[in-house]
Amino acid sequence: MSVISGKKILLGVTAGIAAYKTAFLVRLFIKAGAQVKVVMTPAAKEFVTPLTLSTLSKNEVISSFTKEEDHSNQWNNHVELGLWADLMLIAPATANTLSKMAKGHSDNFLLATYLSSKCPVYFAPAMDLDMHRHPSTRENFDTLTSFGNIMIPATSGELASGLSGEGRMAEPDDILKFIEDHLAKSLPLRNKKVLITAGPTYEAIDPVRFIGNHSSGKMGFELAAAARALGAEVILISGPTHLQNPNEEIKLIRVQSAVDMFEAATKFFPEVDIAIASAAVSDYRPKLSATQKIKKSAETMMLELVKNPDILANLGETKKHQILVGFALETENEEENAAGKLQRKNLDFIVLNSLNDSGAGFKSETNKIKILFKDGKTKSFQLKSKTEVARDILNEIILLSNE
Ligand code: C5P
Repeated sequence: MSVISGKKILLGVTAGIAAYKTAFLVRLFIKAGAQVKVVMTPAAKEFVTPLTLSTLSKNEVISSFTKEEDHSNQWNNHVELGLWADLMLIAPATANTLSKMAKGHSDNFLLATYLSSKCPVYFAPAMDLDMHRHPSTRENFDTLTSFGNIMIPATSGELASGLSGEGRMAEPDDILKFIEDHLAKSLPLRNKKVLITAGPTYEAIDPVRFIGNHSSGKMGFELAAAARALGAEVILISGPTHLQNPNEEIKLIRVQSAVDMFEAATKFFPEVDIAIASAAVSDYRPKLSATQKIKKSAETMMLELVKNPDILANLGETKKHQILVGFALETENEEENAAGKLQRKNLDFIVLNSLNDSGAGFKSETNKIKILFKDGKTKSFQLKSKTEVARDILNEIILLSNE
């Protein structure tokens, strides 16, 4: 999955011949999973039609301060649009627009939006070679870079003028790659390896029956997806679940029983930086698992159970540099029980979710958590989607790893 997946990209198109390439660029962004809105300078519409870009981006294209088409005298809101974006890209960026950006002009909608944006701004210059090497243009590149804007350098080659030299806009594929690489470098879990356990475990009674629980695995899968999106290398060890791997870059190991999960988790633990145990591991398993289906006979039946290994406690015993996080699902004396587990299992923090809270827990799409830290501090969170809860948990881990 691309790092730009889910990102809101604001593409600013200015009046250079390379504007025709922005149709491909929008396609690439959409294919990579981004949302795209396009703003254009009035003159850019001579080079590529707003209809093309609105069709490809699935959004209205804006090029003026007023909504011309519907004569409603409504304003297009450049401030709102500037704040909407996670990143802005000006491509092609002409010498004229770059100069105005450097000086703070806002005599068109694109420039006003640029000045209103708070997100990272990339620009891909496109102009003839003499314009490109003019000291004034060079100075504008430096000024914009000093503002924190990021230049996607022009390349050398044949130019629209017939001349050959530096000034061609980078190709759409290369622009996408440049932005992806740049974003990946700034991800907070880049270079970190994360191990996550998820789902229930099934403890075989015989070939067709098992002891299990209602865990869906959703929380663990959301954690894995969020950790990957934050740049981590992720190993997800999951018990039986219908969930698909959220990202093919996540190493997903499917297991059945607690013993299988224990073996996989202890194998990978020494090489990871962070481990999160969100699995609902069965505490006991049948002492013997029958090789054939058990036949119905007597009125009652005894099943002898033996204790499963506590995976998390074992990781806590062997932990060195790792940040270790556990979950506690409690029905009574919630905080006290969770605090006990935090100590016993040698965790950095424990995520408490209570079955007493409606919308929290096993099968729901939402969760309400409280985090207990080893120094005794606690933090409560609102009821949120499991996707958002995963982000909250990882944010706490990021804060700890920066300490
Ligand atoms: O002790 P309890 O099962 O309530 O602790 C919950 C935490 O311990 C969870 O993070 C769970 O994934 C982990 N755990 C484990 N192995 C077990 C039991 C629980 O990793 N056998």
